[in-house]
Amino acid sequence: MNTAVSTPSSLANDLSQIQPANKAFLARRHGLLIDGTWVPAASGKTFEVRDPSSDEVITHCAEGDAVDADRAVAAARRALEEGDWSRMKPVDRERLMHRLADLIEQHADELAELEAIDNGKSVVMARYVDIKHAIDVWRYMAGWPTKLEGKTLPISGNLVPGQEYAAFSTREPVGVVAAIIAWNFPLLLATWKCAPALAAGCTVVLKPAEETPLTAIRLGELVQEAGFPKGVFNIVTGAGPSAGAALSSHPDVDKVTFTGSTEVGRLIVQAASGNMKKVTVELGGKSPVIVLDDADIDAAIAGAAGAIFFNQGQVCCAGSRLLVAKRHFERVVEGVSAAARGMKIGPGLDPTAQMGPLVSSVQRDRVSRYLSEGLAAGARAPAGGTAMKTPGYYVTPTVFTDVNSQMSIVREEIFGPVLVAQPFDDLADIAKLANDSIYGLGASIWTSDVGKVFRLASKLKAGSVWVNCHTVLDPCMPFGGYKQSGWGRELGGEAVHSYLESKSLCINITG
Ligand code: NAI
Ligand code: MG
Repeated sequence: MNTAVSTPSSLANDLSQIQPANKAFLARRHGLLIDGTWVPAASGKTFEVRDPSSDEVITHCAEGDAVDADRAVAAARRALEEGDWSRMKPVDRERLMHRLADLIEQHADELAELEAIDNGKSVVMARYVDIKHAIDVWRYMAGWPTKLEGKTLPISGNLVPGQEYAAFSTREPVGVVAAIIAWNFPLLLATWKCAPALAAGCTVVLKPAEETPLTAIRLGELVQEAGFPKGVFNIVTGAGPSAGAALSSHPDVDKVTFTGSTEVGRLIVQAASGNMKKVTVELGGKSPVIVLDDADIDAAIAGAAGAIFFNQGQVCCAGSRLLVAKRHFERVVEGVSAAARGMKIGPGLDPTAQMGPLVSSVQRDRVSRYLSEGLAAGARAPAGGTAMKTPGYYVTPTVFTDVNSQMSIVREEIFGPVLVAQPFDDLADIAKLANDSIYGLGASIWTSDVGKVFRLASKLKAGSVWVNCHTVLDPCMPFGGYKQSGWGRELGGEAVHSYLESKSLCINITG
């Protein structure tokens, strides 16, 4: 097992090299954004933000709780019903969103660096995936406000004899939206929620993950610079069980949109039932990568490695189960294992590093527990299998074989760079094996036979099916889960419509 472990010092970010703007940002006291003003938490409490590559504290943020959630929701309600936002023309909402996209673009390198320090991810990936995609999504969603049309409804109107009616449907913002997000793609997930919500005319209270609040705060500053009216976009940083729970159960929040674990997703759904909030939840996954016997095997090996190791495996649709036609199994497993063994491990700010630390010590310990469970249950690890003994939260990229469907490493979402590989014999069985999961977020099929693509894709219970690629996302493509991977869809027109209510307007036009 060769995991290219360097000395701990080369595994820590060198923060003396970061951009002056980010040095100044880390030195600031970070408040909550409520009604257009940065304020401390009502309790005065703060929490530490750590660099995952070194476990060092890099800054502090205000620790908002239920009192702050109340203040933020009240500001969002006022902005929705009384402020300039409520009177703003769709084209002006569009202009503000484009201005914000331009500002994010201007500050893209700075935001990517901040993401790398806060989350641990590669600065290169952050720039070309997280930040680029966020800009694309803001621009795509900026096109929607002017296109939210209702319909003229062709009613027969013969319920009351002698009366005539005309009927229309209109689309209105659902109201105050609470967006509670995870730490794996901080700016991108904030964008997935807030861009369609604002396009629809809603107002927002964003609660970033406590592990990664920094780019959300920077986004709040850019929202202000873009000129959004006060109270339209509020941020409450703080812990899930206090600030998050207060928002998801708040009687004056109309919709809650969440990305995170299925366990917390269930709590969100229960909390939302109090006032029957609308709910979108994007949850866990255990997505299969299916390599058929006619696949381009080299492409499949590279694709499978990317599907699991991208972002340290902390991807909701990560290809964490590799299912390979039996005759290619050894070759594919060896290819992916060689890729894992050859990865350069290093901190996010090292542009040549291919595998960074996990987001937190909690996540490192959770993933390590799965590694031990897998080995104890009899799985074999041709690559990796261990956490690293460094202050940063590193684990070695791991491939498991000799697994069975009872093992926790096969059944549960690990959310780390850990792949389980299983052979299959018969094409007829493959959909059953692929669907043998409580989750249904993504799946990829690797093949050169278009007929098999259509036959298999329709049988897969997954919100996204990729062919000869994996985790390809675009602002126009709805993304979300079957089964316990969630309710509703992000991105595309479907996302925008999930932030709208439909109203039927019926007029008696009897002469
Ligand atoms: P989590 O689901 O606890 O955290 C996500 C967000 O929910 C954070 O903002 C957190 O503050 C908030 N939250 C936590 N408890 C809450 C509550 N009671 N009410 C309202 N909000 C609450 O995720 P965590 O603990 O960071 O990760 C645990 C596991 O969840 C991971 O190992 C992974 O398997 C899965 N996960 C899946 C994600 C996905 O993209 N599908 C993202 C993050 C985690
Ligand atoms: Mg949690």
